[in-house]
Amino acid sequence: MAGKAAEGGGWSSRTAFVLAAIGAAVGLGNIWRFPTLAGENGGGAFVLVYIGFVLLLGAPLVLSEILLGRAGGEDAIGSVRNVARKSGRSESWKGLGALQIIAGFLILSFYSVVAGWVINYVFLSGADWFSAIASGDPFAGAFNGETQDEITGRMGALFADPVRLIGLHLLFMVATVWIVASGVHDGIEKAATWLMPAFFVLLVIVTIYGAFTGDFGQALAFMFTPDFAKLSPQVLNEALGQALFSLSLSAGGLLTYGAYVGRDVNLAPTAGTIAFADTLVAILAGLMIFPIVFAVGLDPAAGPALIFQTLPVAFNSMPAGALIGMIFFVLIFFAALTSSISLLEGPTAWVIDRFGLERRTAAMVVGGSAFLIGVACALGYNVWSDVRPLSFWGIFENADILDSIDGFTGKIMLPLSALLVAVFVGWRADRNLVEAETGLSGGMFALWRLLVCWAAPIAVFLVLLFGLFPGLL
Ligand code: PHE
Repeated sequence: MAGKAAEGGGWSSRTAFVLAAIGAAVGLGNIWRFPTLAGENGGGAFVLVYIGFVLLLGAPLVLSEILLGRAGGEDAIGSVRNVARKSGRSESWKGLGALQIIAGFLILSFYSVVAGWVINYVFLSGADWFSAIASGDPFAGAFNGETQDEITGRMGALFADPVRLIGLHLLFMVATVWIVASGVHDGIEKAATWLMPAFFVLLVIVTIYGAFTGDFGQALAFMFTPDFAKLSPQVLNEALGQALFSLSLSAGGLLTYGAYVGRDVNLAPTAGTIAFADTLVAILAGLMIFPIVFAVGLDPAAGPALIFQTLPVAFNSMPAGALIGMIFFVLIFFAALTSSISLLEGPTAWVIDRFGLERRTAAMVVGGSAFLIGVACALGYNVWSDVRPLSFWGIFENADILDSIDGFTGKIMLPLSALLVAVFVGWRADRNLVEAETGLSGGMFALWRLLVCWAAPIAVFLVLLFGLFPGLL
């Protein structure tokens, strides 16, 4: 009873699905957010907690969402409703699907703005490399002859220019809509099978470059020496939100992609592969970025400016910095694009199934609406820079428009929906149906169930509670 969005076919192979799902998972979250958060929260302790969350909650929930999608066979809302129906439970569980679709839609709106910054740096670093070639030295440092202030000032200049911010955001959104509009097979799958291998090759190149030219030892120590004094409920909440975000959980994407998976695919190892690849890329991203940052004595806790200001400054004084800088931003762009298509596919599939719109129209309507919200995020850096939409809420007091949407989805919607997925799959869905979908048996099934029924709901609940109400401790 596959939904219309699957176009009768779904993925053409298991590999296609795995690449699309890894493409969804690996994105700005791994290369921009993970190193930023690790840098701000003292490195090792954050990394350790993060890996713990991925193993105990992330990977089991990836399996839960994919199996819900395949068992339900429709968009995120329809799939949850179908599984609830087959299990003899209330259909209002479909609200879980709605929560995810809204989260995915909201994430898409600001994700595309940040991806626009990446495009800006693809252009800047591309032009920079060409001028290096023109001056006869293709292996020059980045932004030769510029001072540190001039290089970091480029980000401020971008933020001060609403037209440029919005234009780049539009460019990225159009690319996303175009791929999703081309279909599951001819769009999403094709994009993933070209972009992901290219991404991995570039990632390995820059990591090896960093290891040889940068301070790899200090980066390793920074990322793997935990300082537990740095841990607080907010850091735990941040790490959990990041694990969910990075694995593309709770945002409709995996549920929707799951519905396109064939019956012959064994889901448990597939989910493991996705979680493993995503975590590996996050760690490699840290090992790619921090050696370069430390090599020139810069601050790893630079926050969101880490890759846009700190790294270009570092590339300035490093061999072949212009070329590597360009490769770096191109690889982030590839990663962002394969993620944004999954963010768009969730709500689009729902619009197709629910309202019977053509895929092309549905993708344009959803992408266009997310674009408009993104415009507000972009204006939040200049024209509306004093707007603090959630200022009434202590934990979001100083958040601008983009950070408010990012924080609200990451800290509240994603954990809440993860909690509901765990409760639904662990306690409410028909146990035989679930067991058959996982392909697990015996001890492995028992372990997975233990994590989904107990570990995930309790941990997510506690982290939500203390993260949102820090005063309780
Ligand atoms: N996982 C993506 C990233 O790390 C973001 C994303 C979230 C994509 C939710 C789809 C769904 O960048």
